Amino acid sequence: MKILMVCLGNICRSPLAHGILQHLANQENLGWTVHSAGTGDWHVGNPPDRRSVLAARNLGYDISTQRARHFSTSFFEEYDHILVMDKNNLKDVLQLAETQEHQQKVKLFLVDGEVTDPYYDNELFKPVSLQVEQRCKEIIAELRK
Ligand code: 4NP
Repeated sequence: MKILMVCLGNICRSPLAHGILQHLANQENLGWTVHSAGTGDWHVGNPPDRRSVLAARNLGYDISTQRARHFSTSFFEEYDHILVMDKNNLKDVLQLAETQEHQQKVKLFLVDGEVTDPYYDNELFKPVSLQVEQRCKEIIAELRK
């Protein structure tokens, strides 16, 4: 199973989802591969935002070695599930999908809602990291069946 997490910059939210789900999947020996990417390319090659690195570390995850990537249309073939953090990400990624099969791979990471972009508010990193961790645990339970 290959899962791609997507947000705008690929430095705050999707690196958390990427690192946490990969860690939990490894713990369960699921053999999953989790990656991430951004719909924007401003931060390509950069490590995650230090506030996300810290929030992840506080929960016991190391995301510091990740490097930001830009979403590519080749990812529609490469991944089984493409999970996006908010509705703008959903619109942007769906616009690039050329087949129904590719469109169907794209879903909001949260079942009914968006992961708030914490970039402009330091106080949001902790609640966002906890929300992402909780959802990653649910995803493990749902997709391992
Ligand atoms: P992310 O957060 O999409 O969760 O990585 C952002 C990071 C950077 C910017 C916006 C959102 N930015 O405008 O540079």
